[in-house]
Amino acid sequence: METIIEKIDPVHPDFAIMGQAGEILRRGGLVAFPTETVYGLGGDALNPEASEKIYKAKGRPSDNPLIVHIADREALEGIVKEIPAKALALAEAFWPGPLTMIFEKNGRVPLATTGGLDTVAVRMPGHAAARELIRRSTGYIAAPSANVSGRPSPTKAVHVIEDLNGRVEMILDGGAVGIGLESTIVDFTGQTPMILRPGYISGGMMERVIGPVCMDRGLMAEDSSVRPKAPGMKYRHYAPKAELTIVEGEENRVVETVNGWIREKEALGLRCGVIATDETAGLYRAETVMSMGSREDEESIARHLFDVLRRFDFLDVACIYSESFHTPRMGQAIMNRLLKAAGHRVIRV
Ligand code: TXA
Ligand code: MG
Repeated sequence: METIIEKIDPVHPDFAIMGQAGEILRRGGLVAFPTETVYGLGGDALNPEASEKIYKAKGRPSDNPLIVHIADREALEGIVKEIPAKALALAEAFWPGPLTMIFEKNGRVPLATTGGLDTVAVRMPGHAAARELIRRSTGYIAAPSANVSGRPSPTKAVHVIEDLNGRVEMILDGGAVGIGLESTIVDFTGQTPMILRPGYISGGMMERVIGPVCMDRGLMAEDSSVRPKAPGMKYRHYAPKAELTIVEGEENRVVETVNGWIREKEALGLRCGVIATDETAGLYRAETVMSMGSREDEESIARHLFDVLRRFDFLDVACIYSESFHTPRMGQAIMNRLLKAAGHRVIRV
């Protein structure tokens, strides 16, 4: 299939292009589009055949449910059985934005979209082009991240093109996204609201609005016997081709130890890379050192993570050492992705 690739202004997307994209979605086709978190691979959420196409294009296991994207609050009422008061309060506080909530679904949402579950994940994105696209569609766009299953989520249109060119009808290029990590997911189908995936909206931010929120025990666990509740969180994800190791400890020690390992590897003819910060990048003696931005700016670290992981795949390195990023607000979200990318390989020095 020939993929149409169109550049759009992320704030004022071209009327005609958005009309064409909406038409493709209504006909059951697929359109990749920018959101404020990561690029999404959209299909009509109410059309089971469109959902099946999404799974096929991504190579995604069909038990891994999709998030349904809406543009207004009324649309939520159209697909769920009930809306708990706390969910309504979070919607009031954080929608449109990088927050996904899980509800019991009604009969309008096909099981093909929810991976066979009777619950549905719903998000109202804040990105202007994403909202416009939803309005031009049936009002419900199922959209996982627009990457091939297992690869880092796309934060730029080139990442989408790398993974999905020739597999989807259209890719809308709205430039680099603002946040760079996928939305926070909260499940409202149990006793206490539970975070199934950490993101930009932290537990603390939600607790200030609705009181106690718990965290899925399966999330950070290295022990694979504790299964994460979101089906997608159990899969191997984000891993670069090179072996990635996270190195934790006091800054000087990390730098010294990593430089020692690099010397040893290079003596064996193996090239190494380092994931560092602006403050430390100059201290490493590796062939490739990539900075995630300043350690003082956690939003920059979040925004650059997936791009850095993808860039390493174009380089001939055998191993990558990464600093850890336990930053105040988004640390949990950043470390959740980095730990997965590293297959939980962490060395304390
Ligand atoms: O920021 C985002 O959320 C992006 C953009 C495009 O909106 N989307 C995204 O979708 O990250 P995806 O499919 O890559 O990740 C969705 C995650 C998966 O881990 C999936 O298992 C989980 O949400 N999920 C979806 N529906 C669920 C449900 N009903 N119950 C439990 N987990 C669910
Ligand atoms: Mg994904």
